[in-house]
Amino acid sequence: MGWLTWQRFRCVTDCHLYPDTCISEKLIRTQAKLLVDGGYLAAGYEYIIIDDCWLNNTRAADGSLQPDNQRFPSGIRALADYIHSLGLKFGIYEDYGTATCAGYPGSLGHLEQDAQTFASWTVDYLKLDGCNADIKDFDTGYPSMERALNVTGYPIAYSCSWPAYQEFSKMKPNYSAIAQTCNLWRNWGDIDDSWDSVYSIIQWFGDNQDRLSPFHGPGHWNDPDMIVVGNYGLSPGQSRAQMALWSIMAAPLILSVDLRTISDWARDIILNKNLIAINQDPLGAMGRRILKLNGNVEVWSKALINNRTAFVALFPQPYGTPIHMSINLTDLGLGRFDEYDFFETFHDEFLGKYHKNELYNFTINPSGDVHAFYVESASTKTYRLDLI
Ligand code: GLA
Repeated sequence: MGWLTWQRFRCVTDCHLYPDTCISEKLIRTQAKLLVDGGYLAAGYEYIIIDDCWLNNTRAADGSLQPDNQRFPSGIRALADYIHSLGLKFGIYEDYGTATCAGYPGSLGHLEQDAQTFASWTVDYLKLDGCNADIKDFDTGYPSMERALNVTGYPIAYSCSWPAYQEFSKMKPNYSAIAQTCNLWRNWGDIDDSWDSVYSIIQWFGDNQDRLSPFHGPGHWNDPDMIVVGNYGLSPGQSRAQMALWSIMAAPLILSVDLRTISDWARDIILNKNLIAINQDPLGAMGRRILKLNGNVEVWSKALINNRTAFVALFPQPYGTPIHMSINLTDLGLGRFDEYDFFETFHDEFLGKYHKNELYNFTINPSGDVHAFYVESASTKTYRLDLI
């Protein structure tokens, strides 16, 4: 869980025109402080990560990476020290190829040197992108960087874009090797600030869940990209949907939002304790799309510890009017116990007891809203999800 510059702040480098939003130590320090003061760290959002566009256009004389010294005048180590002093962890972006996606110096030919630089800066997380490289090299190149990071002796979470480029080129990524090498990996395209983008990613993960879920678990995670809640593109319902689906998928929860201007309702969604508990459940299971009803509403479920199951029913289409659903408990995969207690997830509200032969009825609003609920055996001692 953390916060990353890319989706909201992109590659804004003109600090004269955009003094408050350009990629700079000032921006990172401001957002880091708000991550703590706004209660996000307390909720689990721990990493603050600078994406592309922090680098100088050239390497230093000794070949080492250096930041743009106008925008990062104190240097990266000082920034990392400040972030650590707040109790946060610090992440940075590089690229396996000759240049980053935005054209700054890439790591090819400098993997060991760059790994040492990151460790000397006390970088806790590296996002290694795959622009400007030969995709066929990734199966050896990404593990080479893993070795270089391990040699430093400094623990660095390793986020790989390795399979994303291979999936796009219709190659079959070796997810077993990827899961052994990387802590998380981008599987698919970049998220944008729109429901179309969010929903297309949800669809892709549902369509490919059988291939992806076996490799998903503690220490090694599929990554559908950032949470875009709190920006310009999603309605409140669509925002609930993204957060609920990312929680069901046990996806990395990496925010990309301006914490100075985020609305209260968006903040409440991002900080929802039950969604975070579902996302962070110790089993680490990647939830699955289990039903597609009338071709419209889809239901996802995720097994949790203590015999609980979390569900999200999503009504993605803009059909204008709420839809009423009736689903057999057995179609939800609930048949092991005779009776279940149902709870609404966002508000932790008790919805009633249902016998396994009963129907569960609910209503969902259209245009990308969700009904999120979780269930437990009625014989289980009840305690709230966030207290797990
Ligand atoms: C690629 C990545 C994005 C972002 C940009 C930066 O497109 O997929 O997440 O890092 O590069 O240039």
